Amino acid sequence: MAQFYFALTNVDAEPLLKKEVTLRYPELKLSYSRPGFITFKGESSLDFDPLFSRVSGKCLGKFKLSELNFLKAWVWKRCEEFELPIELTEISENSLFKVGETVTLIMMVGVDEFWVGEYKLLKTHFQTPGEVSSIVERKVPSRAYYKIAEAFEAFDLPFDHQERVLELGSAPGGASLFLLEQDLLVLGVDPAEMDPVITKNYNFRHLKLPFESLTENDFKEGVDWIISDINLPPTVVMREVTRLISFLNPRGIVITKDE
Ligand SMILES: C[S@@+](CC[C@H](N)C(=O)[O-])C[C@H]1O[C@@H](n2cnc3c(N)ncnc32)[C@H](O)[C@@H]1O
Repeated sequence: MAQFYFALTNVDAEPLLKKEVTLRYPELKLSYSRPGFITFKGESSLDFDPLFSRVSGKCLGKFKLSELNFLKAWVWKRCEEFELPIELTEISENSLFKVGETVTLIMMVGVDEFWVGEYKLLKTHFQTPGEVSSIVERKVPSRAYYKIAEAFEAFDLPFDHQERVLELGSAPGGASLFLLEQDLLVLGVDPAEMDPVITKNYNFRHLKLPFESLTENDFKEGVDWIISDINLPPTVVMREVTRLISFLNPRGIVITKDE
């Protein structure tokens, strides 16, 4: 029997999500999409959890507003400007889902277009309806601060106090600032200048060189995490990170992809 799946994603990430689905779920066919909302059709049930989506799950179909008689549901809307019907706002605000429970998600895809999906709530999901990040904007050396902060929040990255992070492509230091705020010890590698706010922090050390020239001798102590935010093609980054892993043996790796 046909089974439909939905994925909510950043509009910029749609091509990556579609590519990922082609590779990881070749049996699924693109079904219906609006910016940020994509559905796929398959012939059997599968565990649908693409990395390039913010939330994904089974798609139960398109509903009329009068048919949305759920006792418990969260609501997501595709555009800020859409005005949510008051009854949906009330359901969403009064619905609490615990980790492990199946969330019913009402998706307002158009002014009068509602779709319903369901997914199992994981610890790694944002625990709020609509999956909106709680990170507040402030003065930081670069927007990479928000990139790592959001990854930390979304994937529940298990950083521990005073763990050592090798940050590849660290300048000017937005991500370093976030990592230092998490009480981590940061070794930043980048031929470019770091912001003085970062270099004056005792828990930060800068190796002002390209990551290709790093050798085992640059590391007196071990490394718990490698975080790479380098604006080079993924093939180059992956080759070098693989080389570094072979002698550093970190317990976790975070790699951003530059478009
Ligand atoms: C997206 S920016 C990094 C932003 C930084 N993570 C932050 O938090 O501000 C990409 C960085 O990669 C660095 N980069 C490019 N090629 C590099 C290489 N071969 N080795 C080390 N860093 C490199 C650039 O100098 C640039 O600072």
